[in-house]
This record gives sequence, structure tokens and C-alpha cells, in this order.
Amino acid sequence: MLDNLEKIALDIKQFDVSNSANLENFRIHFLGSKGIVKALYATLKDVPNENKREVGQLINSIKEQAESKFSIQKEIFENQEVIGNKLDLTRPAQDESIGSRHPLSLVRNEIIDIFNRIGFSVSEGPEIEDDWHNFSALNFPPEHPARDMQDTFFIEKNDIALRTHTSSVQVRVMENSTPPIRTISPGRVYRNEAISARAHCFFHQVEGLYIDKGVSFADLKQTLLYFAKELFGEKAQIRLRPSYFPFTEPSAEVDISCTICNSKGCNVCKYTGWLEILGCGMVDPNVLDACGIDSKEYTGYAFGMGIERIAQLKYKVNDLRLYSENDVRFLKQFTSGF
Ligand code: DAH
Repeated sequence: MLDNLEKIALDIKQFDVSNSANLENFRIHFLGSKGIVKALYATLKDVPNENKREVGQLINSIKEQAESKFSIQKEIFENQEVIGNKLDLTRPAQDESIGSRHPLSLVRNEIIDIFNRIGFSVSEGPEIEDDWHNFSALNFPPEHPARDMQDTFFIEKNDIALRTHTSSVQVRVMENSTPPIRTISPGRVYRNEAISARAHCFFHQVEGLYIDKGVSFADLKQTLLYFAKELFGEKAQIRLRPSYFPFTEPSAEVDISCTICNSKGCNVCKYTGWLEILGCGMVDPNVLDACGIDSKEYTGYAFGMGIERIAQLKYKVNDLRLYSENDVRFLKQFTSGF
């Protein structure tokens, strides 16, 4: 019996299964319903009880050898079939498309990088905000027009809204940390505007905030000049015009010398030689106090800019809608670093 089993094991090993007809014969011969393995199990009843266990194990192992030889070879044939019938190995490989960063991401990353170099960290806040963080803590009077339905997308009556600016993140940072604070907050903001080449219902801003003892308007000016030169080149100049924001006092709007005509005058700068790029000012003491920072001890400056606006100047893109249409012919043109 044992000799016989050894011989069967050898037969399994040597059986030629090099084509699928042979493989089928192999299956029938060893594993079929009238095959050898089945017959072996049938003989088990004649084996004396004390040998049953050993012989039974040997038969199991023979069965496994046959099954494994069969399935390995079957898989080989199946793979060959796929290669033979469905794959054209002579076809050129498909080009991997690497893609490129969105122009707004490129500009945002560049802004972050410029401010990182002078010690500003990055902080973020939620796009769904409450009235306190978006308006009240920022010294907006209750009847301020920006709170109006016409500008703000409210989610819950008069309290929860999509943030209208990233200044809301200032409030969160001030509430949660102690000065010195030096941070920028990039993010998406929403306003209820009709979509056109010059306006959109969502866009992106970067907010800047610096709070410490003795921070002055001169610090603000120098930081903004540094920023303009890093972004637009050594020749860039800035000018500040008095303005008004509820959360800063005094406030200013900042222009840079026109990057398109080198300040000679063109239709982009409306022949003034200057382009408006951001709003800024000294953080209003009311805002500091509302956020838990002692306005007698600390002062600070803040600024806010639109990323689309900067991108428009850098890339000379004049239609805001292009940024969110996902047209690859537009997006493909922006392949630089970052
Ligand atoms: N939050 C203002 C806006 O959305 C921009 C701004 C202006 C931010 C002056 C500031 C600032 O921090 O000081 O138009």
C-alpha cells in the first residue's frame, strides 16, 4: 500500500500538463469522480485500524499535491490567455499625466512662504462661522450693511453664516493664544454676489495678524513693503491711502506700483500707475479687548488680501470665473514649483 502511494505521488509529479488538454486529463485521472484519489479513499476502510491514521494522512497529502499542481498550472494558462487575447504588448505605454497646481494654490503657497520667512505661522478657521467671530468681535455695529442678507450667506437665521472674510480667524487666534502672535490665515470666503468676470460668490483671502508690546504702524508699513518686493520684485513700491474698517484704527488701503506697465500707466491700473492689493490697519482696541487681549498692554496690526487679486496681477488673468471652471486648457498653463 505504502509503495503504491509513493508511486502515485511520483506519477503526479511527472504527469505532463504542458497544454490544457493534458491538464484536463490530469484532473480526470487523479481528481475526477472516478479518479485515483477517490479510489484511494475507498480503500481506507480495508486498512487496519492502527494504520488508518497514517495512511489517511498520506492520501490527504497526495490529494493536496494533485490539487496544487492542477491549480497552479490552470492559473498559468489563464494568465497566458489574458495576455494572448486581451493585451497588445506592442502598444506604446500610456502617458502618465502629472497635472499641475492650481494658480490660486501657487499664489497662496508663495504668500505663505514669504511670511514664513519673517516668522509668521499659518492658522486656519472654519468656513461656517457664527456672528461673533465673523462680525461682533470684529467691532461691526449691529446695523452694519455687511451683515445684511445681500452680502452674507446665512445658514441659520442671523447667527450662523458662511464666513465673509478670513478676519474671523484673527478672532479665533486671539481668543486661543497669548501674545506675541504672528500669524497668517489663508482660506476661502463667501459673499452673496452675482457671478461675473469681476466678482464671485466665493473667493480666497489671506489674513495677517501681528500682536505684541509696542507694535506700530511703521512695523506694518515695513512688513508690507517687504512683502511687495518679495512677491513682485525689488522695484515694487507701495503707497497707503487712509480708509475705514470696523476692526482697525487707523485703517489703510495699500496699492503697489503697477506691475504691468511699470507705473507708466495702462488700462489695468487705469492710468494711475498704482494697483490696490490689500486692506490693513492697527487692530482696534475694542477688538483686542473682545478677544481677551489687554489693549492697554498690547498693540497690533492686521491686513487682509484677496488671493485672486494677487493671482490676477501675477498671471494677468482678468476673469475671476476661470479660477473655478476647471478648464484644463487654463489650468495646464501653471506648472511652476511649489
Ligand atoms: N476683512 C477685509 C475684507 O474682507 C480685509 C481686511 C482689511 C482685513 C483690513 C484686515 C484689515 O485684517 O486690517 O475686505
